[in-house]
Amino acid sequence: MLAVYDKTIIRGGRVVDPASGIDAVCDLLIENGRIAAIGENLPCEEANVIDAAGKVVAPGFIDMHCHLRDPGQEYKEDLVSGTKSAARGGFTGVCCMPNTRPVNDNASVTRYIIEKAQLRGSGVHVYPVGAISKGLEGTEMAEIGRMKQAGIIAISDDGKPVKNSNLLRLAMQYADYFGVFIMSHSEDKNLVGDGVMNEGYMSTKLGLPGITRAAEEVMIARDILVAEAEGKRIHLCHVSTRGGVQLVREAKKRGVRVTAETAPHYIGATDEWVAGYDSNCRVNPPLREEEDRLACIAGLCDGTLDAIATDHAPHHQDEKRVEFHIAASGISGFETAFCVSYTELVKKGYMSLSQLIEKMSAAPAKLLGVEGGSLAVGSAADVVVLDPERELTVDAEAFASKGHNTPFHGKTYSGAVCMTMVGGRVIYEEA
Ligand code: DOR
Ligand code: ZN
Ligand code: ZN
Repeated sequence: MLAVYDKTIIRGGRVVDPASGIDAVCDLLIENGRIAAIGENLPCEEANVIDAAGKVVAPGFIDMHCHLRDPGQEYKEDLVSGTKSAARGGFTGVCCMPNTRPVNDNASVTRYIIEKAQLRGSGVHVYPVGAISKGLEGTEMAEIGRMKQAGIIAISDDGKPVKNSNLLRLAMQYADYFGVFIMSHSEDKNLVGDGVMNEGYMSTKLGLPGITRAAEEVMIARDILVAEAEGKRIHLCHVSTRGGVQLVREAKKRGVRVTAETAPHYIGATDEWVAGYDSNCRVNPPLREEEDRLACIAGLCDGTLDAIATDHAPHHQDEKRVEFHIAASGISGFETAFCVSYTELVKKGYMSLSQLIEKMSAAPAKLLGVEGGSLAVGSAADVVVLDPERELTVDAEAFASKGHNTPFHGKTYSGAVCMTMVGGRVIYEEA
């Protein structure tokens, strides 16, 4: 039987906690699931000792945006495999989008997700996002109040835009009243048309129908203007274009209550990657051009983009191993989020490790209003141990996720996740 310790010490690591401004080599003492002390040479009698010498100790990552596919599409992912995959990626909390079957548009689905995650999950906190509209159909509002009582953290029709601007406006008012917020999938489907990749040089060269950036930007602008008019909060999912970043930047300057995320694939890949028609590069919004990638990085650096979220979207091989234009959209993202982000952002000198950790833990925790994202004494012991300088080659076949769909397979990055702990309990430890 595994020994159960109520006292653990993570010894000798570089503790990086942007929330409390700590970046120093020291020990972390955990008692009864909470951070009890941080300091040098803490006494460790009767404690379980974890040696973190040469490693980085940080608050566990929190993913504001993922798809766990449960209920209904367990052949793609379920709450067991999805939370296991999240733990391997260093995540201690994840928000799962409501485009399940049935849709999470009522309290019983919300309760199912929470209960199954508690009973069968890896230990990662699962925060369900409820639907804005019933069945994600964009016509009738879902049971926001009841879902909130059951435990949703936000509302979204992710996967689909909210076409009806008045429904969006009403949803903002309800969301505010019930203490949740809207996460918008900003996309104008009419402008997307039959597009399957970013519209530009590459789509012309490859002969694939393109998606104009305007399809994203028109809706970002609409979302911002509605939020501004209402004085309400809006969070923009997966911002991928330079124009989108600029719209958010200007809105923030005007004082609009807008926040935004981008995903590792928008800072680590471009439409050039589609050159071999690899359907693992099909994602929505699509991979954009180098200038957009650089704009997303600049947006993260100057605070325009608040957080990095994976948009983990696992699919079955049968839906991916087909021609590009008929392949499902999405990337299985938990297990490459840190190495891709660390390599592209920190190793390439755009930001410090502490800033990256902030974008992946403290910032999302604050936006969501959940515990975590901090190693301050008294906080929940949701911790990740990282080996940022260790190189690894991505092997999608070895993912804990059922979704092996990633454009990063076979590529080498720097940044390993060594251990993930939730409430003082180790939920993932590398072999
Ligand atoms: O690529 C995507 N996949 N984009 C979305 O908005 C939805 C997601 C999914 O659910 O597969
Ligand atoms: Zn989306
Ligand atoms: Zn999504």
